[in-house]
Amino acid sequence: MRLAVIGTGYVGLVTGACFAEFGNEVVCVDLDRDKIMGLRRGQIPFFEPGLEEVVLRNLRSGRLSFSTDTQEAVTRSSVIFLAVQTPSRPDGLTDLSFVEQVARTIGSCLNGYKVLVTKSTVPVKTAEELRKRVEEARSAAGLDQVDFSVASNPEFLREGSAVEDFMRPDRIVVGTDDDAAAAILRELYAPLSLTRVPFVQTSIETAELIKYASNAFLATKITFINEIANLCEQVGADVHDVSRAMGLDGRIGPKFLHPGAGYGGSCFPKDTESLVAFSREFGVEQRIVAAVCEANRAQRERAVEKIAGMTDGLEGRTIGVLGLSYKPNTDDVRESPSIHVIRGLQQGGARIRCFDPQALENARTELSDVHFCRDAYEVAENASALVLATEWNEFRALDLGRIKKLLAEPVIVDLRNIYEPSEMARLGFRYVGVGR
Ligand SMILES: NC(=O)c1ccc[n+]([C@@H]2O[C@H](COP(=O)([O-])OP(=O)(O)OC[C@H]3O[C@@H](n4cnc5c(N)ncnc54)[C@H](O)[C@@H]3O)[C@@H](O)[C@H]2O)c1
Repeated sequence: MRLAVIGTGYVGLVTGACFAEFGNEVVCVDLDRDKIMGLRRGQIPFFEPGLEEVVLRNLRSGRLSFSTDTQEAVTRSSVIFLAVQTPSRPDGLTDLSFVEQVARTIGSCLNGYKVLVTKSTVPVKTAEELRKRVEEARSAAGLDQVDFSVASNPEFLREGSAVEDFMRPDRIVVGTDDDAAAAILRELYAPLSLTRVPFVQTSIETAELIKYASNAFLATKITFINEIANLCEQVGADVHDVSRAMGLDGRIGPKFLHPGAGYGGSCFPKDTESLVAFSREFGVEQRIVAAVCEANRAQRERAVEKIAGMTDGLEGRTIGVLGLSYKPNTDDVRESPSIHVIRGLQQGGARIRCFDPQALENARTELSDVHFCRDAYEVAENASALVLATEWNEFRALDLGRIKKLLAEPVIVDLRNIYEPSEMARLGFRYVGVGR
């Protein structure tokens, strides 16, 4: 099949490359000319394990191509995926201007039946809006006789394991009220039916809501264990034992019960805020998710207070921070808890030294007045405390004896609980984790 993917970011590039891997002819489009020129030379614009291999293989075979020309990509394709960004507006609602712009372009150049598929995370009823925008542009271009369908196909991949997640998803969700569109999408995903991936076909509104409900539930689970961890700290309990025993209950499950400085990333913060805001527009309060958003903000502040408590105040202190991405194995710093904590430390008057294995370049655009270091050891030099903010594997295997000699004070604040408290005490550190 001939596909176009509009928006070649984390989701669009993975989607395009993986559909090409299934044997389709895919053109990935982006407005960012430098990104597209780089991709044509095989340069992947962000760090994502395993992606380069798939992109290069399909680029060489000619199945995957890159373009800045949306109209040309639309006219030569029968299925068009929208994978542009859908950021938060200041009021919490979703900024749909990127989706709308693509809709207008598509409507202006329809040259035959096409299925338009939203892969971006969009509030309930957006596919309906998309349909209207395309129809308006289609009329303005005098193309009323050309038919199209809309469908919602939310994406559940996780950065850091995006290719694996796309190839082996827990489920595929497709929302459409159109049999022809459903059949085309079933065929596109047929390679995954060999591994018995469930294909969940629903109405458009249901598919759109499944994505928000899933992300909000996961964010709730993280926030729940964070608040239990806070209680553990006060009563002398160990949150790891609590979450392990909770997770052994088959009704609860072990995943997303790891405490920290709050969830971050490009999805959970904006999707939870958006669910609360758009539900309100339909007259429904999401009290739990609203509380989750609030508790998540408080968890980051608590991390800053914890660090300040370990260094006897922040004013004039130098704090070393390990990890800037919002989680390991990605260079994405959007809404990273580490970045929020650093800003909080700076507001308290601290100077920051920091390092990340992949996210330094992106962090430079988010942070000012920080000293970016070459490695963890340089971060530790003369710092009043070392804060572990993102659990990259390389931070698990540090020479802690060397770290201790480099630090001005032997203080470690472990916001991801990767070190053992008893071992840290044995090494002579003043150490604090989360909830233990
Ligand atoms: N990143 C994730 O882990 C993830 C997971 C699931 C769902 N999502 C959702 O997928 C969507 C995309 O997320 P992302 O992280 O890939 O975003 P991104 O910012 O990495 O990529 C979006 C791309 O779209 C391009 N773009 C914007 N307007 C365009 C236009 N008119 N024409 C062509 N290209 C255009 C941008 O230049 C950018 O490269 C969002 O709705 C997000 O919520 C993201």
